[in-house]
Amino acid sequence: MRLLFRRASDVRGSMSLWRGGCSGSSSRIGQGLKDCRTLVTSCRAVLLPRFGGPDVLELRDNVPVPDLKPNEVLVRARAVSINPLDIRMRAGYGRSIFEPLLPLILGRDISGEVGAVGTSVRSLRVGHEVFGALHPTAVRGTYTEYAILSEDELTAKPASLSHVEASAIPFAALTAWRALKSTARITPGQRVLVIGGGGAVGLSAIQLAVAAGCHVSTTCGSESIDRVLEVGAEHAVDYNTEDLEAAIKGYFDAVLDTIGLPQTEKIGINLLKRGGHYMTLQGEAASLTDRYGLAVGLPMATGILLKKQLKYRYSHGIEYWWNYMRADAEGLDEIRRLSEAGKFKIPVEKTFPISEVREAHQTKEKKGYLPGKIVLEFN
Ligand SMILES: NC(=O)c1ccc[n+]([C@@H]2O[C@H](COP(=O)([O-])OP(=O)(O)OC[C@H]3O[C@@H](n4cnc5c(N)ncnc54)[C@H](OP(=O)(O)O)[C@@H]3O)[C@@H](O)[C@H]2O)c1
Repeated sequence: MRLLFRRASDVRGSMSLWRGGCSGSSSRIGQGLKDCRTLVTSCRAVLLPRFGGPDVLELRDNVPVPDLKPNEVLVRARAVSINPLDIRMRAGYGRSIFEPLLPLILGRDISGEVGAVGTSVRSLRVGHEVFGALHPTAVRGTYTEYAILSEDELTAKPASLSHVEASAIPFAALTAWRALKSTARITPGQRVLVIGGGGAVGLSAIQLAVAAGCHVSTTCGSESIDRVLEVGAEHAVDYNTEDLEAAIKGYFDAVLDTIGLPQTEKIGINLLKRGGHYMTLQGEAASLTDRYGLAVGLPMATGILLKKQLKYRYSHGIEYWWNYMRADAEGLDEIRRLSEAGKFKIPVEKTFPISEVREAHQTKEKKGYLPGKIVLEFN
């Protein structure tokens, strides 16, 4: 990491931001001394110079840290969790958007400390422990000692959780929040079906729906059944059951499909009450733009979505959606409150130091049961 030390009087007024309190040592960034400020100009980061397998990931020193915009926050990373999106982006998913922007920094989730704030940031101060997640298309991700997120993508880290535990939560939880709270607008007493409840988004959806007073059923692998029941699902069905549709009892107000295969889509739609919402996380916008380019792929995706929305509204009287993660400050605050109250948790299976990011990606990619998230730690 490269640091420039200046007196506060040298930088105040001449810059749109100042970065981090310092004590003259990089290990004490964020301790908040008043007589000097630290400008972080470069740091260690994992770069993705080209698409490919885990071996393309490169941990480099002296990667530039851009200036903060007024609404942005510099976060010194303590832990970042690996999401399926990181693995897919590394392999080329979203290349129509990302290829011209290589090298990228992967990573959405983060837990760490505020190192500096932009001029309009009001809710966070240097030294605060925070957690949060970047939106799916961010180019400078969180696999870096110093990540940049906007103020509404961060909130105070749940006090009861370690950085490792906190970093496992935001991206998955906000994806589930967006679907259940913003799209389906679930209310107490409603019935929610989570297809694929054993993963991070699925477990998040179960816990958020239970906290909202809903009754939750879910499908998952046999090894996940105890876990989904523990976090509040009332009914869990092994997805290898022969007649899955018959095994899931009753009809639902909302179905969140984290798997998004043709058969799970069919089951989800058939099990909805009239007026219910089917939400898949496997929308086709990125895959179509990757295949046909932005100019053709994006309108094609919009056309397919509209056609499905009209078809299912007419045939089943339901609302059909492709759902994507989006930052939501109110949602993140509620997720923090639930975590602190012991009502929300995502299990962590294994941690790796950031220097072993390739091994961490290999572990996440391996076929087979993984009962929790993989987290990268910074020391
Ligand atoms: N659209 C978006 O913005 C967005 C955001 C986040 C995630 N996603 C996508 O959503 C998916 C889930 O993400 P995640 O973070 O929860 O992943 P994850 O933690 O890796 O979990 C994936 C889980 O899927 C389950 N699964 C696999 N096949 C299944 C099937 N046929 N039926 C039921 N469950 C099945 C497995 O559960 P068991 O262990 O129980 O077998 C596995 O644990 C990924 O494809 C991800 O790319 C999309």
